[in-house]
Amino acid sequence: MIPSSPVLLFDSGVGGLTVYDALREALPAAPVIYTADYAGIPYGKKTEAEVAARVAGLLGRMAERWQPRLACIACNTASTIALGMVREVLEIPIVGTVPAIKPAAGVTSSGAIALVGTAATIRQPYVDDLESRFASDKRLVRIAAPDLVELAEAKLRGRPVDLAPIKRVADQIAGTPSPGAVDTIVLACTHFPLLTDEFAHVFGSSVTLVDGAQGIARRIAHLVEGQSFAPQAANRFVVTGPVETAAGLEAALAERGFGPVESFNA
Ligand code: DGL
Repeated sequence: MIPSSPVLLFDSGVGGLTVYDALREALPAAPVIYTADYAGIPYGKKTEAEVAARVAGLLGRMAERWQPRLACIACNTASTIALGMVREVLEIPIVGTVPAIKPAAGVTSSGAIALVGTAATIRQPYVDDLESRFASDKRLVRIAAPDLVELAEAKLRGRPVDLAPIKRVADQIAGTPSPGAVDTIVLACTHFPLLTDEFAHVFGSSVTLVDGAQGIARRIAHLVEGQSFAPQAANRFVVTGPVETAAGLEAALAERGFGPVESFNA
């Protein structure tokens, strides 16, 4: 393995930074290229065919350009739709981020779990499969919350966060049969852990929030164990489309050790 070969993290926007943050703790020396597909966001409102074609095409071109040692699809929507397909076409290890239903099933006391994700994620057969494998004896309430993607993007740009969309999620959970019992929420979109404080504010301490970022970081660290890493001055933050789409993110990126925003011309 070439020591400068990066770990590639990929999302439609800043959501995958939740995985990046966990990865930097687990593996501080790893050179990372993070790509935000701002020319394609939001994935959660696209069809399965659109997401699959876009993600497979982009990852293929990025892998050719940067020769990463591993790629992580740091997006639940893209992973639940396209993980199998991407693994078939790329020769490097591909790590996906799929809704943390298994850990949530281990956490809940009431047996009622809310899965909050994009509209595309919550309807995927991949999620049906996770539910039947790990939560068949639980009650899983699926809530689409596409507005929260924009909210997380705004928060990282330093804009004030409106709690109304999160309160709507709480109302939707409360409106499902036997509502009071939900004690665990799966944040099934990588953007949503960026709003953990706001979720905690709306839901209070009686609800446990679960996401997969730490587990994904551990999985990546395990897969690259024993490999050497070349020291680098800064990690790379790349956007599809013009660099202006990342305007406002300067502080969030600088504190995470990224250099100037670059554009990937696919
Ligand atoms: N961060 C992506 C996810 O985990 C979704 C954002 C989008 O809709 O583009 O599902």
